[in-house]
Amino acid sequence: MDVTPEQRHFDEVIAADSRIEPRDWMPEAYRKTLIRQISQHAHSEIIGMQPEANWITRAPSLKRKAILMAKVQDEAGHGLYLYSAAQTLGITRDAMTDALLAGKARYSSIFNYPTPTWADMGAIGWLVDGAAICNQVPLCRASYGPYGRAMVRICKEESFHQRQGFEILLELMNGTPAQREMAQDAVDRWYWPSLMMFGPPDDDSPNSAQSMAWNIKRFSNDELRNRFVEMLVPQAEALGIVLPDPELTLDTDGKVAHMSEIDWTEFHEVLAGNGPCNAQRIQHRRQAHEDGAWVREAAAAYAAKRASARGASEVAA
Ligand SMILES: [Fe+2]
Ligand SMILES: [Fe+2]
Repeated sequence: MDVTPEQRHFDEVIAADSRIEPRDWMPEAYRKTLIRQISQHAHSEIIGMQPEANWITRAPSLKRKAILMAKVQDEAGHGLYLYSAAQTLGITRDAMTDALLAGKARYSSIFNYPTPTWADMGAIGWLVDGAAICNQVPLCRASYGPYGRAMVRICKEESFHQRQGFEILLELMNGTPAQREMAQDAVDRWYWPSLMMFGPPDDDSPNSAQSMAWNIKRFSNDELRNRFVEMLVPQAEALGIVLPDPELTLDTDGKVAHMSEIDWTEFHEVLAGNGPCNAQRIQHRRQAHEDGAWVREAAAAYAAKRASARGASEVAA
C-alpha cells in the first residue's frame, strides 16, 4: 500500500514517541478522536464545578470557603485550557458549547451524582480528583502537543485538589462520631462511581487499542483503575475509613489481587442520561450560558471598537 509523505511523517513522529503539533498533517481519525476526548474532558471540568459550587455558600469556615472557591476556579481554568487545546484541532468553542448545551456531548458521569453533605467535598477531592490524577498523569505524554502541555499544569493543580479532599476527610475523621459517620457515608457513595471513571473493563473498551497505538492512551482502563485502588488502600488506612468493597484484597506487593465486580448497569444508566442529576446539570449550564450572554456581547462589542479604532489610526498614519 502506498503511504503518502505526510502519513510517513506522522508515523515516524508516533514511532519516535515525539509530538504532533497543530501545524502537522494528521489522520482524520486521529483528529476526530482527539476532538472528542479533549472536548469531553473540557466539558467535564466545567460541569464538574457544579457539585462543589453547591457548597461554597455553606462551607463550614471562611478558610474552607476560600479553599473551595479556589478549587472550583481551578476547574474553570482546566476547562479553558482544554477548550483551547481542542480549538487547535479546528473545532470552534461555540460548536463545542452548543453540543454540550444540546445534550449531544458527553462529560464524565461522575458529576451526575449529588452532594448532600459537606463530607462530599472531601470525598470528591480524595476520590474524584484522585482518579482524575491517575487517568491524567499519563496524558502529560500524549502525542498531541497542546493536549500534553495542558495536562502538565492541570495535573499539578489536581494534586492539590486531592490533598485538600484528603485533609477535609482527615479533619472529619478526627471529629465527633457524627462527623466520622458523615465522612464514611460520603466515601461509601463516591467510591464505586470513582472507579467507573476509568471507563469500561479492558475487554469491553473498543477504542483503547487505537488510542494506545497513537500514544494518546498509555495504560489500559483496568491497569489505571487498579493503580488507583492501590494508592487508596494505605490512605484509607491512615484516615480510618473503610473502602466499601468487602472482597478487595491486595497481594504482598500491594497490588490488587481481587476486587468486587463493578455494577456496569449503573454506569450505563448514568451515561444514558438517567443518573440522579443529569437533567439538573445541563439545565444549570444552559441557564448560566444564557445569563452570561451580556458578557459575551460586551466583550465582542469592545473587541470590534478596538479593531475599528486601530483601523482608523492606520488610515490616519
Ligand atoms: Fe480539573
Ligand atoms: Fe480537580
